[in-house]
Amino acid sequence: MKLRYFSHSAFQITTDDGLRILIDPFLDGNPTSPVKASEIEADFILLTHGHGDHLGDTLGIAKRCDSLCICENELANYIESKGVRAHNMHIGGAHEFDFGRVKLTQALHGSTTPDNECHGSATGILLFIQDKIIYHMGDTGLFSDLKLIGEMNQINYLLAPIGDNFTMGLEDAVKACEFVHPEMVIPIHYNTFPVIETDPALFKEKAEQQGTACQVLTFGQEITL
Ligand code: NI
Ligand code: MN
Repeated sequence: MKLRYFSHSAFQITTDDGLRILIDPFLDGNPTSPVKASEIEADFILLTHGHGDHLGDTLGIAKRCDSLCICENELANYIESKGVRAHNMHIGGAHEFDFGRVKLTQALHGSTTPDNECHGSATGILLFIQDKIIYHMGDTGLFSDLKLIGEMNQINYLLAPIGDNFTMGLEDAVKACEFVHPEMVIPIHYNTFPVIETDPALFKEKAEQQGTACQVLTFGQEITL
């Protein structure tokens, strides 16, 4: 299985069976993304919430590739109203798909669509895929129930926002590592815009001091899980 990081919160996972899964594909409007939406294909698109820097190019990619979008109920209804296939879920619920299992978690954050309407809740995503558990936290502040998520799931890869202002900053993200206790943390949601500039190397240092291995991915880098 491959995990490719496009920058911000955007990832592509390619399973050993060749299924292509995008998460929060903010590409064309993203000054740090090395790829354009037109270069990307997806069988499934997972979304943490409706903000433009997460919904991103979802509608265009999903229409072109007939992708199934998987997300929280209110956002799924919005996506369907735009002519794209969606699977509605909600926080705490899990469902089995061809590539694996998705469970939505809470995230302390809001959710609006590009039409500027409030659309339900922001979420995190627990992804049970092949023999790994990936936890994409979405946009969130720190919350103590992360301990419960870590206790109930042996997380292999924690994708944790560190850019501050809209989400956790460095210190809170290190505390999130302590709570979730993942095998490895990968920092996300930083250096896309001036307001979320931070030093991922400093985060790595602090996370490793806390006892969590950290890999900082360059924008566009692909790793094998
Ligand atoms: Ni957001
Ligand atoms: Mn965001």
